[in-house]
Amino acid sequence: MIRAALVMLSLVLPAGAEVTTSVVAPPQEGSVSREDGLAAWDRVHAVVSHPRCANCHVGADNIPMWSGPEYPQTGPHGMNIDAGDSRIGAETLPCATCHVTSSAPANGPNDAPAAMIDWQLAPVDMIWFGQSSAQICAQMSDPARNGGRDWIQLAEHLRDDAAHGGFVAWGFAPGGARQPAPGDLQSHIDDVLKWGAAGQPCPE
Ligand code: HEC
Ligand code: HEC
Repeated sequence: MIRAALVMLSLVLPAGAEVTTSVVAPPQEGSVSREDGLAAWDRVHAVVSHPRCANCHVGADNIPMWSGPEYPQTGPHGMNIDAGDSRIGAETLPCATCHVTSSAPANGPNDAPAAMIDWQLAPVDMIWFGQSSAQICAQMSDPARNGGRDWIQLAEHLRDDAAHGGFVAWGFAPGGARQPAPGDLQSHIDDVLKWGAAGQPCPE
């Protein structure tokens, strides 16, 4: 089945695409204890608060953050980049000017990262940068602020984004000397589902 899916993807995507195949296998709702759900959330939090994810999930000032081997401290994106209310730089300089939409990995030391969908900030509602674990947990479990998703649809978003060579796939395999988000995509999906099946418990 996985092979069939890969064959299908290879028909629609250019060669060399950074595409990840993963599965969403939700446990029965209520089958995971609150304690195990909270432990799963801690692992989810380690991923979403990591710079490879949180640097794009920023607040209403519309300024992307960056960090990496050359910039050990996380700080505002250089070159006065402002994503504007469009979150894609339409008002000034589009992100895609430098972050090309491409399957070619950005492996050079100061290459602008690339993905197969147009580079842009996450919507303001989905702010993670500088937020506590409890705040991110509340946001991710609120359909009014997470793109209208229940816990299974959150996991499906991760699977589908990665299957299109999107930002989630990039965060786990950023290339070059950039540190990837911890763990791997499949474990992250499994943790989101465990947390969800426990009723999306949040830390105090
Ligand atoms: C003028 C070119 C340019 C533009 C325009 C630009 N970027 Fe960047 N961006 C870069 C470069 C180069 C890097 C890599 C810096 C490095 O690691 O040396 C980068 C890195 C990043 C990172 C770093 C992630 C990390 O690993 O820490 C994020 C997030 C980011 N850009 C978001 C954006 C967004 C969102 C926009 C549009 C609003 C944008 N950028 C516009 C050149 C640009
Ligand atoms: C280049 C910027 C960028 C990076 C890097 C990025 N995201 Fe996002 N993220 C987005 C955008 C844009 C959306 C809105 C897409 C939508 O709702 O369909 C989003 C939405 C999401 C959502 C939807 C629900 C919610 O509550 O926020 C999840 C989950 C998510 N991202 C996970 C991740 C994870 C995990 C990583 C790191 C492995 C990551 N993202 C890295 C831009 C980014």
